[in-house]
Amino acid sequence: MLEIMGVSKIYGKGQATVVALDDVSLTVNRGDSIAIMGPSGSGKSTLLNIIGGLDRLSRGEVHLEGERIDDLDENDLVSLRRGKISYVFQQYHLLPSLNALENVLLPIIFSGGADGRDKAADMLRRVGLEKRFKHKPGELSGGEQQRVAIARALVNGPSIILADEPTGNMDQKTGRQILDLLAEMNREGVTILLVTHDPEVAATTRETVFLRDGKIVERTLSRKHPEDARAIECPGK
Ligand SMILES: Nc1ncnc2c1ncn2[C@@H]1O[C@H](COP(=O)(O)OP(=O)(O)OP(=O)(O)O)[C@@H](O)[C@H]1O
Ligand SMILES: [Mg+2]
Repeated sequence: MLEIMGVSKIYGKGQATVVALDDVSLTVNRGDSIAIMGPSGSGKSTLLNIIGGLDRLSRGEVHLEGERIDDLDENDLVSLRRGKISYVFQQYHLLPSLNALENVLLPIIFSGGADGRDKAADMLRRVGLEKRFKHKPGELSGGEQQRVAIARALVNGPSIILADEPTGNMDQKTGRQILDLLAEMNREGVTILLVTHDPEVAATTRETVFLRDGKIVERTLSRKHPEDARAIECPGK
């Protein structure tokens, strides 16, 4: 359903160019959960940003459900991010002046949806924050803020969640709650693409894709799924 076809990203001009992604191709099926790993600077965030339309590619194409999305204009990209694709950042990116409920309500208001308050409240209950509706981000712990961010990412019923080191700033227990939540969403059919440095985090997803110097060098199935725990041969390895 998500097809990344020969995507390259080159930053800068002249002598100072950086090839952040080098001819990356990846097919992600509906309901997949994939961890993206690789050394710092290998292009993980760049790949996620291009899929989510936060950054433009230099070459290649990205298709979602048969439609090309890499060449959409800003308005269409914004609607895409309020609809089918949602983003969860390491640094939550909540609006500090709004309380938890209002933060989750925002994407519904922007997309012109109805019954916003009920939906936002339901979503916050799902992430275990029924007692924190009126708290502003500054009054919440890191894990709670991330749960608000996930509730916000899910409230419009996206088909894909892109998460860039969503547990990067958390202790293990809190990180585990966030990963459980993502796994639960995945069981309900949401596709998850998750960037992480942590092999234990990667083990919670079904597959891991390894990037090095902007190229996919390996794609493996998780040990948690022993029935198919074998390396998948990767073209261009
Ligand atoms: N806006 C930019 N301008 C120029 N170069 C950039 C820009 N953004 C990223 N890069 C470069 O592109 C390469 C890939 O960066 P990216 O952020 O995707 O790495 P990453 O794998 O997410 O690393 P990390 O694990 O440290 O987050 C790096 O060499 C980086 O310096
Ligand atoms: Mg990164």
